[in-house]
Amino acid sequence: MNQGFTVWLTGLSGAGKSTIAERLAPELSARGCSVEVLDGDEVRTHLSKGLGFSREDRDINIGRISFVASLLVRHGAAVITAAISPYTLARAEARRRIGDARFVEVFVRCSLDELVRRDVKGLYKKAIAGEIEHFTGVSDPYEAPENPDVVVDSEIETVEQSVSKILAELAKRGYLTADAKAAVPREVKGVL
Ligand code: ADX
Repeated sequence: MNQGFTVWLTGLSGAGKSTIAERLAPELSARGCSVEVLDGDEVRTHLSKGLGFSREDRDINIGRISFVASLLVRHGAAVITAAISPYTLARAEARRRIGDARFVEVFVRCSLDELVRRDVKGLYKKAIAGEIEHFTGVSDPYEAPENPDVVVDSEIETVEQSVSKILAELAKRGYLTADAKAAVPREVKGVL
């Protein structure tokens, strides 16, 4: 069985966490990993329905995501999480729960100016107008990681470049076979 690990994407809303997760997932599958994506918006529709954006609610949300991730990792899965996870303490707790050696923190950086310009969901405009309270980066804190394992920058990199950087870190740690084409499918691995 492959060794499980979690790629923990953190960054402001709209920075590109979900896009990176979507593009990274098939790359990991192609390298023989059993992949699960825990996306913030999706988790909030199911597992964390009803939670808001107070610090307490965000901590509960992150706690649930890290709990599920830890279970999956224990069974050899490659987990990708994509939640803002704005608080250093909650991310440290996720690292502790999942295991330091199986936790890869990826800071998805993007300036607020660029996010306001993109405003894909139209939420920054509303937040700046005061129509949404406690909006991360506008009226609520985002504690950028001080020592992330990988930094990707969606303002200056393509998604492919960001995904490559993450894959390189995973390969460096020995989580992946070096070459996607050389990866042995899981079904075959079982009988070798
Ligand atoms: S987290 O802080 O608990 O990690 P999470 O990633 O699950 O946040 O959810 C963030 C998403 O919720 C944003 O991308 C945005 O679409 C939406 N959202 C709604 N209100 C807020 C808010 N006040 N702050 C941040 N995101 C919000």
